[in-house]
Amino acid sequence: MPEQPTLAALEDALAHVQDPELHRPLMQLGMLKNLRVEGTTARMRVVLTTPACPLKDRIEQEIRAAVVGVVPGIQAVQLDWDANVSRTRGLPGRRDVEGVRNIVAISAGKGGVGKTTVAVNLALALQRTGARVGLLDTDIYGPNVPIMLGLRDRPESVDGRIVPLQADGLKVMSIGTIIDPDKPVVWRGPMLANALQQFLFEVAWGELDYLVCDLPPGTGDIQLSLAQTIPLTGAVIVTTPQDVSIADVTKGIAMFTQLRVPILGVIENMSGFLCPHCGERTDIFSRGGGRVLAETRNLPFLGEIPLDPRIRTGGGDGRPLVAAMPEAPEAAVFQHVAAQLAAQVSQANFRAQAGPVMPSGPRLPVR
Ligand SMILES: Nc1ncnc2c1ncn2[C@@H]1O[C@H](COP(=O)(O)OP(=O)(O)O)[C@@H](O)[C@H]1O
Ligand SMILES: [Mg+2]
Repeated sequence: MPEQPTLAALEDALAHVQDPELHRPLMQLGMLKNLRVEGTTARMRVVLTTPACPLKDRIEQEIRAAVVGVVPGIQAVQLDWDANVSRTRGLPGRRDVEGVRNIVAISAGKGGVGKTTVAVNLALALQRTGARVGLLDTDIYGPNVPIMLGLRDRPESVDGRIVPLQADGLKVMSIGTIIDPDKPVVWRGPMLANALQQFLFEVAWGELDYLVCDLPPGTGDIQLSLAQTIPLTGAVIVTTPQDVSIADVTKGIAMFTQLRVPILGVIENMSGFLCPHCGERTDIFSRGGGRVLAETRNLPFLGEIPLDPRIRTGGGDGRPLVAAMPEAPEAAVFQHVAAQLAAQVSQANFRAQAGPVMPSGPRLPVR
């Protein structure tokens, strides 16, 4: 008579299966729930730290390998997937935004590199994995988020809280909905500080897994005070192949490092041209600089986004590509980058939790 598989044997077999990125046992991390044996099948719920997890297949393979043919009597594994996005522990001296688990800044050394395009499409890509996502546009030089998402309304206040605008399942707030575009930037700067406090703390964001924040380009006073005000999980640096070597990128990295904001990675945008007719790739500018930059600075490389007319025009109906054409190959590129980013967020939160409390760094002078 065949041996009846037991729960104890299943637990023993699973005790050594590690999370491929965090390098800790899944059991210890509380990621395996509701373990049970039904006949010859082992069943369990796997609770990931992000629904965008790029390692789902690998985790499944490793669980299978540890159990099937190892635990006597088990012939199959059935997994239910779930996610509970980890929360940023935050930096000392910064107020948390209630309900918002992670704030990720999208930054660039200069304008025109596709920061807003990347922020909008990444937010949408994260949302498509099942995460709850908001988008906060603080770029006073070019608050283009409303244009890209076709938002014309001003946000309204209900019971003393500002209700964010909605676009394609995202909750959105933009400095563009309140500033006067004809006013020079020097006037918009002080307004920004005020508006930002409101945008963070007086907006009814609800529960969000990720709030993607489009920062103004560069590393001036405005960026500095923003990066100091917002309780960031981390920052992403967007470059194009031509501008990776410019001093501004290095300055950006230095600014976040000094503020002790983790850099979650580098994205190379406008990386090669994908011909919409024949699908052939032409490297109009050089390519690979973003990866080299990441490697030399010891930062994660999150991916390359090609120069593509569909990324510029989106679906043609004023909606960004990932919302309008989620099945397009270019949208898959954004899904890939979003998964890498989400994994980096999980790791940053894990490190912050595991490591010692970070001492507060020297405050940079902000005028
Ligand atoms: N990968 C891309 N392929 C094609 N066009 C792009 C791509 N990324 C950005 N663009 C276009 O380049 C211009 C600048 O992009 P934008 O996102 O506004 O840059 P930034 O926010 O850095 O100033 C826009 O017209 C945008 O549509
Ligand atoms: Mg922009």
